[in-house]
Amino acid sequence: MNQEVIIVRGNHTLKGDVRVSGAKNSALKLMAASILGQGETILHNVPLISDIELMSEVLARLGATVVREGHTLRINTADVDSCETPYELVSKMRASISVLGPLIGRFGEARVAMPGGCQIGARKIDMHLVGLEALGVAFDVDHGVLAATTPNGLRGTHVYLEFPSVGATENMLMAAVTAEGHTAIENAACEPEIEDLANMLNAMGARVAGAGTSLIEIEGVPLSTLHPCEHTTVGDRIEAGTFLAGGALTGGPLTVHGIDPAFLRMAIMKLRAMGCDVETGDDWITVRREEPLSSVDIQTLPHPGFPTDLQAQFMLLAALADDVSVITENVFENRFMFAAELMRMGADVTLDDHHAIVRGVDNLEGAPVSSTDLRAGAALVLAGIVADGETSVHHLEHIDRGYEDYVGKLASLGADIRRVPADSLR
Ligand code: EPZ
Repeated sequence: MNQEVIIVRGNHTLKGDVRVSGAKNSALKLMAASILGQGETILHNVPLISDIELMSEVLARLGATVVREGHTLRINTADVDSCETPYELVSKMRASISVLGPLIGRFGEARVAMPGGCQIGARKIDMHLVGLEALGVAFDVDHGVLAATTPNGLRGTHVYLEFPSVGATENMLMAAVTAEGHTAIENAACEPEIEDLANMLNAMGARVAGAGTSLIEIEGVPLSTLHPCEHTTVGDRIEAGTFLAGGALTGGPLTVHGIDPAFLRMAIMKLRAMGCDVETGDDWITVRREEPLSSVDIQTLPHPGFPTDLQAQFMLLAALADDVSVITENVFENRFMFAAELMRMGADVTLDDHHAIVRGVDNLEGAPVSSTDLRAGAALVLAGIVADGETSVHHLEHIDRGYEDYVGKLASLGADIRRVPADSLR
């Protein structure tokens, strides 16, 4: 398909109401969990993004049928008869590794290509393997393919994760639901998407307790007792945080709907520390700002710490704040590429290992910039909305992975923004 570019004119404001889509980082795992249902699972509030299309392809390759009806997916996994997920799919989306746990939970075996790294880091899966081995899984790497078997079946265990890895927690969870006996995962990831996954697994007949805390306990049940269910994906807290950053940037008032404010406590605390007024309701959050942006220090950490997926968006806020902010990226080893692009727009950022020292400037200048990962891309578009002049954002494939109709939603909030074929710029 012809490359497209986002063209955005600066000195605009974002205000009004926007409804966020379902959470990408939940929906992908809910789709994988449907493997355990052995029938037709119905998922609502599934975002229309390319990663979902890729996960649908992964499931189809395994023998499932996936039918999309708007924001609802009907996934029938009764006929899943393969445990093989090839490199050509895993290399396009490393989240494909999320089928490892459910395939093991259903078949006791799996063959999944080892995922590569990406721009933001090596993205190792050693903790996935250690956790699954504790459940009785034996792994063999065969020419880049991870071959999993369970010679003595899946047995409940007590595992202490050395880092609260989201993916490792999810893969262990989806395998442990059919392991014999009791499993405890200590130092588990606490992200809201983990709780969403556990709620769906329990609706399928699993017995999971403690999801959303650092101790998750699972009573294994026979595979035959698991059944499909109908489930609605939680709202996307990172998409919501992205729009809230846009509202904070330009003053708002901007309201995001379809999100539980409890998912964004740390981000809301930082918005308030930067001089914003933030109001919340059952499923909405409003941000407005009259005062100049105040500088703030941010440490990205596993939930409930500040989300690494909002680091770029808040670096943009810091770039226009009244003083110096220090942003420390503790989750990924290489997630400051956004800074380099932002500096091309006039930001003053000094990188020192995991720290970014951001000195506020009065304004940014529009420029041609490139997305390096989906969150940096989304933040660059926001930068273009407040910069002087015109910004063109390239490599939109990153943004399309995780933001449904990003241009349309921003335009509805007042941005002067459009997508055009790249060759129309010459
Ligand atoms: C999930 O990635 C999200 N992706 C990421 O969102 C998010 O940034 C991340 O969690 C942290 O919240 C999806 O859910 C599809 P981790 P995941 O395992 O599961 C290291 C986005 O923008 N690690 O918690 O891969 C790893 O390299 C994406 O939507 C190991 O070393 O995150 C990373 O540095 C980006 N060994 C850190 O831990 C392992 O076995 C956190 O990884 C596993 C992880």
